[in-house]
Amino acid sequence: MNRNTAVPKVRRISGPNARAWAEFHLKYAAPSTYVPEFIWDRSAPAIGPFCTDVDGNVIMDFVSHIASSPLGYNNPELISLMKKLSFLPDKYAGSDFIAGHGKKPKKSEIPTPSHLHHKIVEITKTFGFDCAYFSNTGTEAVENAIKICYAYRENNGYGITALGAFHGRTLGALSLNESKLVHKNWYPQVPKIITMPFPDEQDLRRWFVISKDGVTRSYIEDLMHPKVGMIDPDETAYVIIEPVQGEGGYNIADKTEMQHLFEFCHDNDIPIICDEIQAGMGRTGKWWCSEHYDVKPDVIASAKSLQVGATISKRGMFPAENGRISSTWGEGNAMASALGYKIIDIIQKKNLLHNATKQGEKLKKIMADVQVKQKQIINVRGIGLMLAFEMDTEKNRKILLQKCLKNGLLLAPCGHKTIRVLPPLDVTNREVDLFAQLFEKSAKRI
Ligand SMILES: Cc1ncc(COP(=O)(O)O)c(C=O)c1O
Repeated sequence: MNRNTAVPKVRRISGPNARAWAEFHLKYAAPSTYVPEFIWDRSAPAIGPFCTDVDGNVIMDFVSHIASSPLGYNNPELISLMKKLSFLPDKYAGSDFIAGHGKKPKKSEIPTPSHLHHKIVEITKTFGFDCAYFSNTGTEAVENAIKICYAYRENNGYGITALGAFHGRTLGALSLNESKLVHKNWYPQVPKIITMPFPDEQDLRRWFVISKDGVTRSYIEDLMHPKVGMIDPDETAYVIIEPVQGEGGYNIADKTEMQHLFEFCHDNDIPIICDEIQAGMGRTGKWWCSEHYDVKPDVIASAKSLQVGATISKRGMFPAENGRISSTWGEGNAMASALGYKIIDIIQKKNLLHNATKQGEKLKKIMADVQVKQKQIINVRGIGLMLAFEMDTEKNRKILLQKCLKNGLLLAPCGHKTIRVLPPLDVTNREVDLFAQLFEKSAKRI
């Protein structure tokens, strides 16, 4: 398949082979969040955003596996690296044993987790970070972020999360979720979690409260106010926030209120964790979405595009005692950490932060133009290549997603009526033009 000539082509989706695969898979797999209509054929041609499904349909994937394949399918540099990774075990006890590659820790063709530590510090030095702990998933990156804050504050204190938040599905991260009941219902939770409103740039009404003393303050200020508040800042272990909420519906934080939140927390020595698992690693046109806000988080949680989970901060934030944080496979997946390193390297070399900004603006304009003609589409928004729009009803969202897929364009839902658009960071002009055609055609038919 040639990326410069590939075009989406759908005969029947979902076709008979997709149905057979879905039946086989779902017979033994526990119920989760599967999309059985689209089944990628790993043995068939694919490149960039283009892939082939098990019925031979060619699809343009503008979801990038929810931001976790930032360079699309079969990136030639990543494939060439993978071919060189011919040793076992690939998953080794990486928090227990450090693995070198060659006699000395110099720059190697095959990056080790140690190289990835170095690289991640390089792209977070704008926050003064100098230390990272790797794990396997986003939820683990969040677990470790909150653990180091509880330890650092030595107060077993309150954790503050935001309405609409999604931070993962293990019990600690889950306790911080405020997007859908299905994530939390009946599961036990970490105690002392308080939910603040999200400072949504579209609607700040909930962010401000008229207090008992008649004064209007931001929720956080009021919550910890010495006279009218409910808790003392010293009892607070952390605030956690996604600058752009992912699963909660691609809600974008207001810049002034984010700065105010950070100022308040810094003045009161409360660590702020930015969950950049979906929005980070260049997705928004900067390495970290927090950079758009000119704020400095104390801890960042990253995963998805990075291929491993990462909790990144200053060394002083991490507990020094041996074994306070650890995991058998933490740092230990040789393939994932090498790919994570190479992905950062490619984004740097090819200046893909710039591409994300430029193509993101174009895509936003395309969607806004369609919005003018189609009243069911509301509120096109996004930063860089983390884009979304709202549909008037959940039913119309389902219809539009199906129409897009039938026309060969894969998009994904989030929130309650939102559709998200996440092309690879190296998306080209031609692919953006193709999106314009397919999107307009699909929206017209609703
Ligand atoms: C913002 C955010 N935080 C945390 C997570 C959890 O990551 P994982 O599914 O890798 O555990 C996700 C996953 O969607 C996410 O988008």
